[in-house]
Amino acid sequence: MSTSVIILAAGKGTRMRSSLPKVLQPLAGCPLLGHVIETAKKLDAKNIITIYGHGGDLVQQAFTHENVQWVEQTEQLGTGHAVKVTLPVLPKNGISLILSGDVPCITQETLEKLLNVSRETGIGLVTLTLPDATGYGRIVRENGKIQAIVEHKDASSEQHKIKEINTGIYCVSNAKLHEWLPRLSNNNAQGEYYLTDIVAMAIADGLEVASVEPLMPFEVEGVNDRLQLAALEREYQADQAKKLMQQGVHLIDPTRFDLRGSLKVGQDVRIDINVIIEGDCELGNNVEIGAGCIIKNTKIASGTKVQPYSVFDNAVVGEDAQIGPFARLRPGAKLAAEVHIGNFVEVKNSSIGLGSKANHFTYLGDAEVGAGSNIGAGTITCNYDGANKFKTIIGDNAFIGSNSSLVAPVHIANGATVGAGSTITQDVAENSLAVERSKQFAKENYQRPQKIKK
Ligand code: UD1
Ligand code: CA
Repeated sequence: MSTSVIILAAGKGTRMRSSLPKVLQPLAGCPLLGHVIETAKKLDAKNIITIYGHGGDLVQQAFTHENVQWVEQTEQLGTGHAVKVTLPVLPKNGISLILSGDVPCITQETLEKLLNVSRETGIGLVTLTLPDATGYGRIVRENGKIQAIVEHKDASSEQHKIKEINTGIYCVSNAKLHEWLPRLSNNNAQGEYYLTDIVAMAIADGLEVASVEPLMPFEVEGVNDRLQLAALEREYQADQAKKLMQQGVHLIDPTRFDLRGSLKVGQDVRIDINVIIEGDCELGNNVEIGAGCIIKNTKIASGTKVQPYSVFDNAVVGEDAQIGPFARLRPGAKLAAEVHIGNFVEVKNSSIGLGSKANHFTYLGDAEVGAGSNIGAGTITCNYDGANKFKTIIGDNAFIGSNSSLVAPVHIANGATVGAGSTITQDVAENSLAVERSKQFAKENYQRPQKIKK
């Protein structure tokens, strides 16, 4: 039986007080709706149908790379109406999971459980028992069997005592959706077409309504305002931190760790506080990340130690390297094993060979550095003439004296030495010394200028 996924995302999200549609607000660096689409993809769904309304263009633009079918709900007449607008594109057979674009943390596991029980009955719900169920639709049971969902505003005082709530996540046979949705009415306290009314229709048809509970309660938490968004972010991060620790990562403080993407780890990785990891990253065995580092789309090989406050963006770092503190590796930085990059060193689109060092205040842009070279403090590769960029090539075992400017294109050959303070504009031959610096001027008993008396 083929599975479709229907995602409700037409709501305005007024309480976010944002110009960005609610489902585009980020959780762990990814739009709320993006999380739901990712989970839907894991379920091998035949089609993913998203119902949009407010900010529809922006929402669609954010997911042009995804294979999603978009259906517009021009007026928000209720959750039942929202699903009804998908009927023209919804297959007649198979089964549909109905999810919410603002409930981002629902897991594949819970949805698979729901699918399994619902395939038997034709309809199933994710429900949750809460200490305070105020505001939610209540699950009405008789002899343990679900009879109906009653919205808070329509519930009797007796029903208000029910603690089991409707999470808004359903699984329903498509044939039944085609049959039931056109029959919904808006004769209720909110004057809306309630999707929840299909439960009573199922009972009337003699069906049993299945239910499952989520593994973790935060899976079904919705986001309506910034407070809920921030709270959910922490729950999501706590869960990711837990999974990493279970894989053997030593997080010094899991409450001060943020992963906005995916992280592959080796053994005995240690991560100090306030580290942010974004995109797809990989840390090898025994890698240590100091406090306050930001690491994006970067691979760091085994044994490398990163000191605090270093920033990585699309970089690759070899084994047993030493980076930071305060290092900045920009896109295209490729460091071989045992490289040292020290404080206030910026590396962009450059490769640095085995064991080479740039320990202090340096810019290496569009450079190729061989193995065993030493780049002195304050060295700058002048790679840009204001219009074009050029390469600097430094061979093996070169020594660049402090405060040198290497004006590209330029080639410093193997074993060459550049004297401190030089502005190098011509190639330097193998094993030679180049110094570009005026002779030191000296004057004895020098009188400094005096202030002019007025
Ligand atoms: C709904 C359920 C309630 C459940 C609660 C869980 C109904 C009638 N009630 O209530 O039983 O406990 O969710 O959070 O379904 N949406 C549209 N178009 C619409 C209306 C809503 O796309 O016309 C979308 C919203 O953007 C949101 C979702 O549907 O993503 C839920 O809508 P919302 O108004 O928040 O439902 P509740 O009243 O909270
Ligand atoms: Ca509502």
